[in-house]
Amino acid sequence: MATQTLKETVMHDHRELFYDQYKNAADAESKEKWSNQYTWVVTRHSVSEEIVVYPLFEKKLGEEGKKMADKDRTEHREVKVLLARVGNLSVGAPEHENVLSKVNDVLAEHMKGEEEHDLPLLESKLQTEESYNAEREFQRTKALAPTRPHPTAPDKPPYEILAGFLALPMDKIKDLFSKFPTEEEIKAAKGKAGI
Ligand SMILES: [Fe+2]
Repeated sequence: MATQTLKETVMHDHRELFYDQYKNAADAESKEKWSNQYTWVVTRHSVSEEIVVYPLFEKKLGEEGKKMADKDRTEHREVKVLLARVGNLSVGAPEHENVLSKVNDVLAEHMKGEEEHDLPLLESKLQTEESYNAEREFQRTKALAPTRPHPTAPDKPPYEILAGFLALPMDKIKDLFSKFPTEEEIKAAKGKAGI
């Protein structure tokens, strides 16, 4: 993969939630797969932001960066609480649809703030090489992040890392029993979304 800045990668992830696939799924089985996929990508992306991106706001942008990080962490907490609720609802129940749609609305607003304000400001303070390095760290962290939201886990490192990683084996076990879209289905969804 070509080298990307941190902002490019975060924005790319934001385009790969596939909420429409969930919303337009024709049957419960397919809805369940896209709901699981949504939860998984949002969770690992959020954990990676909390570990790699928000501490950079604080380090590079002083008081304003601290405010940005606090606001973003609060919004993530709201999303994690809602996603944990989604996990306890049966797919196909109207409430499942309502809560996931609420998650998607909260996230849309949150991602807009990151894309239009937070990330451009951070990139303006990063050397290109620094941004590439942060991007690689972001990707590596994502690969290790838990696959289910843990709304009670503290969201500042190193606690998030520890709490998230401690929960990892159980999450992995749960995943064995969960349904996810196949690689082909994801590829087709990407083609449809033009990403
Ligand atoms: Fe975020």
